[in-house]
Amino acid sequence: MSDSESISFSKQIKRYAKVGGVVGKLATKLASQKYLGIKLDKDKHALEIRNALGNIKGPLMKVAQLSATIPDLLPDEYARELMHLQSNAPPMGWLFVKRRMSAELSSTWQKNFVKFDKEATKAASLGQVHRAILLNKKIVACKLQYPDMESAVSADLNQLKMIFSIYQTYNKAIKTEEVYKEVTQRLKEELNYERERKLMQIFSNIFLNSKYVNIPEVYEKLSTKRLLTMSWLDGQPLLNFKDARKEVRNTIAKNMFYTWYKPFYEYGIIHGDPHLGNYTITKDLNINLFDYGCMRIFKGKFIQGVIDLYFALQKNDNSRAIHAYEQWGFKGITKAKLEVLNKWASFIYSPLMKDKIQKIQESDNGIYGASVASEVHRELKKLGGVKPPKEFVFMDRAAVGLGSVFMHLKAEVNWYQIFHQLIQNFDEKKLNQRQQKTLKLVKL
Ligand SMILES: Nc1ncnc2c1ncn2[C@@H]1O[C@H](COP(=O)(O)OP(=O)(O)O)[C@@H](O)[C@H]1O
Ligand SMILES: [Mg+2]
Repeated sequence: MSDSESISFSKQIKRYAKVGGVVGKLATKLASQKYLGIKLDKDKHALEIRNALGNIKGPLMKVAQLSATIPDLLPDEYARELMHLQSNAPPMGWLFVKRRMSAELSSTWQKNFVKFDKEATKAASLGQVHRAILLNKKIVACKLQYPDMESAVSADLNQLKMIFSIYQTYNKAIKTEEVYKEVTQRLKEELNYERERKLMQIFSNIFLNSKYVNIPEVYEKLSTKRLLTMSWLDGQPLLNFKDARKEVRNTIAKNMFYTWYKPFYEYGIIHGDPHLGNYTITKDLNINLFDYGCMRIFKGKFIQGVIDLYFALQKNDNSRAIHAYEQWGFKGITKAKLEVLNKWASFIYSPLMKDKIQKIQESDNGIYGASVASEVHRELKKLGGVKPPKEFVFMDRAAVGLGSVFMHLKAEVNWYQIFHQLIQNFDEKKLNQRQQKTLKLVKL
């Protein structure tokens, strides 16, 4: 870096730091270390961040989660610190909950319940979940949003923007403009529990005849934009099954696969947040699916591209692969970039390639896809980088998230057969029609 570049860069950083507060400080230190060779005491600084952010709840977690999908975005220590915040933030107290419930329903809201747990049972990223019992004895979960989350989300998005731009000054492997737009859109949607309720109803329709997944039933009259009342679903966390019998683990894996990919290949919708808090497992090994706040809806053309890429890779057909990436929304794919992208795609698709029972990935080296991701990242950097299209972000995240679930379960499944079963009747136009019809039913 030349002197003048270095000066303008540090000016830039100072400006960021002023605007961004704590995360700004983090970014400054991060960038100074990478760029100016200043040594950074990561542990100490991570602790500082934790102390300073200790009281802030909310979508900052998205930054942490995302950082797992873009190598080098944040050092692991920071990602871990950010994750830590969510579980340790203090909940809203009972007085406050009563006030919030009155504001959402009415001052007589308690008349709708025979019981309402004063303490939150679970933390949510933008609020908290209370267990309650309705007059008809049904047990429900009330997800209640904290006040002023819009401004928290905007503040967070500004911080994310800053982290991205700092990242971008020293690393051009992944151009983050579209990623940022996508995250912005999804996060803003996540604020709207009415939208989430509708998506829950859409999923109920999609899985009307499927036994392997349970969707909470929504109570529309007890739900608002900031309160979601739904049937309580009992189950166990996935990790409790890590050491279960092989058949059990494989059944759970198959049920997860259908739960994620039936909506995707038949309706062009994917649940973009397959992290461990968002589902539990029932006694019958079915999936209780939670959290409809981060849904990605695709055009049929994109799904067609996903399927095309599969066949292109299987047949080693490069021109078909380029066409498929273009349908995904990638631009300016050179031969060299194609090879690198194919490396990632081959990894993601590899369990679907052969008609046999197999693990999701051959080597079990801790984090699903981590070594391939960092290799791809390194090579993209050399080639001047790519700009992943918006559609790629959560589709990729879902695939990686599910992959790591299957890896934890050490599942051995014939993925090829389930995949082919899901795509056998694929038709782009029919998908679009089906999707439109389903969205219309709930006026989404
Ligand atoms: N219908 C439900 N039945 C039982 N537990 C639920 C239900 N809905 C949510 N939860 C619990 O509450 C937590 C937070 O809910 P979630 O919808 O995931 O919130 P967020 O969108 O903020 O992540 C979940 O991880 C789950 O443990
Ligand atoms: Mg959740």
